[in-house]
Amino acid sequence: NGSKIIEIGGKKYQPDGNFTNVTPSMISLTGRSLHLKDRHPVGILRDAIENKLNSTDNAFLAYNTYKPVVSTYENFDSLGFPKDHPGRSKSDTYYVNSKYLLRTHTSAHELECFAKAKSGETNKPGFLISADVYRRDEIDRTHYPVFHQMEGCRIWNRDNTAYTSNVEPGHITKMREDLKKLEQQLHQQQTKVVVEDDTSLDGNPKQNYMTDLEVDLCSKHLKRSIELVISDVFHRKLESLRKTNKDASEIPTELQVRWIKAYFPWTAPSWEIEVWWQGEWLELCGCGLVQEDVLKKAGYAPDSTISWAFGLGLDRIAMLLFEIPDIRLFWTQDERFQKQFQKGIINTFKPYSKYPSTMRDVAFWLPQTENVEKIHENDLMEIVRNAAGDLVESVKLVDEFVHPKSGKKSLCYRINYQSMDRNLTNNEINALQEEVRNELSRKYNV
Ligand code: PHE
Repeated sequence: NGSKIIEIGGKKYQPDGNFTNVTPSMISLTGRSLHLKDRHPVGILRDAIENKLNSTDNAFLAYNTYKPVVSTYENFDSLGFPKDHPGRSKSDTYYVNSKYLLRTHTSAHELECFAKAKSGETNKPGFLISADVYRRDEIDRTHYPVFHQMEGCRIWNRDNTAYTSNVEPGHITKMREDLKKLEQQLHQQQTKVVVEDDTSLDGNPKQNYMTDLEVDLCSKHLKRSIELVISDVFHRKLESLRKTNKDASEIPTELQVRWIKAYFPWTAPSWEIEVWWQGEWLELCGCGLVQEDVLKKAGYAPDSTISWAFGLGLDRIAMLLFEIPDIRLFWTQDERFQKQFQKGIINTFKPYSKYPSTMRDVAFWLPQTENVEKIHENDLMEIVRNAAGDLVESVKLVDEFVHPKSGKKSLCYRINYQSMDRNLTNNEINALQEEVRNELSRKYNV
């Protein structure tokens, strides 16, 4: 806070009173690289997905060691985020200062990787980027301010000369072949995906520089690639459920997925995929055809290139595959967690004893003075996280009250304290709760 130089990953940054909201507890998580650990669920899953995507035609080069601090240009501007996009706000993003932040998605490295592909530094038509990403968010069993994504991009160079003659352009032939290989492989998957596909481009327009046929082939290649990953990963889970379930016939043999229109500033058209899993639709991945603007910024000539991109969240899938009940477990250093996993193997986590939890409520009147900066829920989350770190299981709004006469509003939040690794004492919890109360009144004058 204030003027102390911030050090992250051996680099020094000048803080900025108007922007800096990255905290020491967040900085301490930046070097963990769970996605690189071959005996950690996130690392095992990353490895499995990379292998699957490269099993068709070995087209992807993997970049897995990009550092988490990126510029606002890389994270937002290079991808065409408008200046007032909500993703940029300080309540959602950890800023180091006005120019640097903890990346909120792996798309922050797309431009750089496209530029590398263009320069001929790599000889592969695609790349994958896996990394830790950071977002200020609520606290519960499935949310953690750090999670992991895998970005995937695939590139085709356009054969423009052919458009003047009658032969099919080379890249179209190539795209057809690539798609066919992928479809054959998908066909061989033991768990079939049943796809509900929103192919209509109403409200999800294509880019002018692409022909309808190009859009069709490129979107299909994108969607089939993701379906291949999903059918592979979920197949492993279904198989293991079949082995342990008394009535194996209850385990589905197919997977329902659906493609839904989406919007991202740097892709058009865009979609999200959802998978029907244990009674609900799970959102797994955003994707689309890369905006030509991004490709041009990376050095590609106008009209020269066609590409798709996706961004897949790894933690949710890892939680479900390994049956991890609380996302904080990924971060524990407890051997009883760490020792359960082996390279290349997706096994079911065996919970060690669950330690008791204890609740404390905190209620406060919202400050009422003119043009007070409102307390954003994520600010409260941050205060709790700073005081208690991974000893908090969840923070929930349990009551809201507006005084009938004064119109003043009060909120009550319930903090559930529980450690993954040990028993907590009342004294210890009371001290943490006291710190939360003090910080709330110190920072927000409540
Ligand atoms: N970066 C997006 C997200 O985090 C996902 C995405 C990646 C969408 C690539 C389109 C293309 O939600």
